[in-house]
Amino acid sequence: MKINLIAIAICIAFATSGCAKTESTDEKVDALIAKMTVQEKAGQLNQYSGFEILTGDIDDSKISDRNQRIKNGLLGSVLNVLGTEDVEQAQRYAVEQTRLGIPLIFAFDVIHGYRTIFPIPLAESASWDLEAIERSARIAAIEASAAGQNWTFAPMVDISHDPRWGRVMEGAGEDPYLGGKIAQARVRGFQGNDLSQPDTIAATAKHFAAYGEVIAGREYNNVDISRRKLWETHLPPFKAALDAGIKTFMNAFNEFEGVPASANTYLIDDILRGQWAFDGVLVSDWDSIGAMVTSGVIEDDAGTAEMALEAGTDIDMESDVFVKYLPELVEQGRVDEALIDKAVKRVLRLKFELGLFDDPYQYIDAEREKALILAPEHREAARDMARKSVVLLKNENQLLPLDKNIKNLAIIGPLGDNQFHMNGFWRGKGQAADVVTLLEGVKAKISNNTVVRYAEGSGLETMDQEKLADAVALAKQSDVVILAVGEDADKTGEAASRTNIELYPAQKALVKAIHATGTPAVMVLMNGRPLAIEWSEANIPSILNGWLLGTEAGNALADVLFGDYNPSGKLTMTVPRKTGQIPIFYNHKRISRPLDDTRYTSQYVDSSNDPLYPFGYGLSYTNFSYSAIKLSTDSINLNESLEASVTVTNSGKRFGEEVVQLYVKDMVGSAVRPVMELKGFEKIALKAGESQEVKFTIDADDLAFYTRDMSFKAEPGDFALMIGPSSISYESVPFKLTVN
Ligand code: BGC
Repeated sequence: MKINLIAIAICIAFATSGCAKTESTDEKVDALIAKMTVQEKAGQLNQYSGFEILTGDIDDSKISDRNQRIKNGLLGSVLNVLGTEDVEQAQRYAVEQTRLGIPLIFAFDVIHGYRTIFPIPLAESASWDLEAIERSARIAAIEASAAGQNWTFAPMVDISHDPRWGRVMEGAGEDPYLGGKIAQARVRGFQGNDLSQPDTIAATAKHFAAYGEVIAGREYNNVDISRRKLWETHLPPFKAALDAGIKTFMNAFNEFEGVPASANTYLIDDILRGQWAFDGVLVSDWDSIGAMVTSGVIEDDAGTAEMALEAGTDIDMESDVFVKYLPELVEQGRVDEALIDKAVKRVLRLKFELGLFDDPYQYIDAEREKALILAPEHREAARDMARKSVVLLKNENQLLPLDKNIKNLAIIGPLGDNQFHMNGFWRGKGQAADVVTLLEGVKAKISNNTVVRYAEGSGLETMDQEKLADAVALAKQSDVVILAVGEDADKTGEAASRTNIELYPAQKALVKAIHATGTPAVMVLMNGRPLAIEWSEANIPSILNGWLLGTEAGNALADVLFGDYNPSGKLTMTVPRKTGQIPIFYNHKRISRPLDDTRYTSQYVDSSNDPLYPFGYGLSYTNFSYSAIKLSTDSINLNESLEASVTVTNSGKRFGEEVVQLYVKDMVGSAVRPVMELKGFEKIALKAGESQEVKFTIDADDLAFYTRDMSFKAEPGDFALMIGPSSISYESVPFKLTVN
């Protein structure tokens, strides 16, 4: 029996109006707030991690301090309380044993899957397939909600140009336009059409804002950028997520212009709440409010609560300062209770929208949990997403795809038969035991006559002469070697910055030793960030960027290696040759002394400026040819649009998919303009010999930018429009924007 005390509480609050059913959510929320003490209000703004809460029966002797807090109405939401059993116990405390019976929200970092683990988000972005990305988030939401969750701290929409920063694995790469489209797909996937349904969860745009700019790529470091860079590069994906109806935002750990993001009135009050009119929930990052004492912008914990609340942050994750200090701050007249009410209102409104007031237990259904977690169709979707994420970087003499009847095949490398690392960082409730390794995937794929043998060759970071010798011997006896090298799951993600983004020396030595045997080698890079593999690019005939692909990693890679799936991924983050080129990104601004063959131009004396692999780049087992660009007109005014089209032909021998990319260059601007900017893309599928016309429309809105005075508008003048298969391979045609 479900006792909905809160419904009773609301009815009492509305007693004078006869508990009318037509009350709006806002009215219900206001009525509830009117009944709350300041302490209860502060409790709603408090979020705890419940790693160990509520295991076992509800038994007073076992009730931990945290459970006591729930019962005392001092918690509004929790994170990391997982599974219907634990969630139900916690929810019962909140609903049945607190004065007002307000349900908790259950939150978790569902970043690329809950139990069925999808590719890391950076890998998914390389698919450029918005439908598949939406489906991935949808399935993550279906599984997470079946396990009692209502809220995920995803998508991370931080743009970054720095692969030293381990968190690039969580994002969608370096481009604000593509990042915005992908953010929207993920929001649609998580939140669905109706947040009150038990299979949808609220999404979070994080980390607001500019966290991708941490200095030197070091996690938790400061950020020091201009407002122009903030608006041009970092805010667009957040705005896109907002436009897609995202319910919550999360602060960042960094400061902006000297003020920590969690109390930054320019970011929160002016931009998010003001210019963008966001009235949803803003949650702090983990202890990012309390940490303002460590940053030295305030002396005491009470002051951090005051600063964060006043700026517009609603929920304090893990600092414990809202719940501790807000009541006394109100008493002392330092904080206006009306401000607390505003934040509480946003939190309660979210609870209503999630349907938690109608039925606080609606997400808790053990049968559904059992049926949906790791459902076969979820695994199938994960496999499909995984193969769509793979990027073919090099394929000399068409070594790939491999023949399924090959006689002797060797898989060599520390990641060739590893389950754990395939799930990457932020692996949710993903279990290593669920994962199909590369070795298993290949074994399931090849003919019965093929002998597949595996040798580790080296540790991930440690040399082992014996293992190396075994691997070399195996390579010598094999027709082809698949080299499975890269990074382990915890070398990217949170708190995983590197100063060197090359392969670890032990693995580099392994690659070189295998190459020296003369046996043809295919490298499958398993990575959470772009890796600078300059030597391999020069020496290894075929290279797949295979990321960390999740539960179905091995099957997906085998699909690609043996040609059952033709790779279609394209990089969304530039791959440098050397760590020292970072930050490196395709849409950089024009410079006063661009590189030419004279000395005093912008260049390194010890390396090419060029990336190893550029943004938008990725090969296929077939070839695509592009016709000349056709423009409907080469001049438009501010109210007109033009159509640009190309015909793309699959001129090779097998079915394939191509990501057709549209870039624009503004030839003269009042503020320095990028060399090119992505403005559109379309992923098309073509049979051998088939052609398709791809059309793009461009108008003044697409040409708008932050002008010298920071107003966002297009400036009439000359432009170039480029269409092609990557950011370095395209045809360029001129057009004009005129005033009238
Ligand atoms: C991370 C967030 C994450 C939060 C909760 C923080 O350390 O920066 O991205 O959502 O922890 O796990």
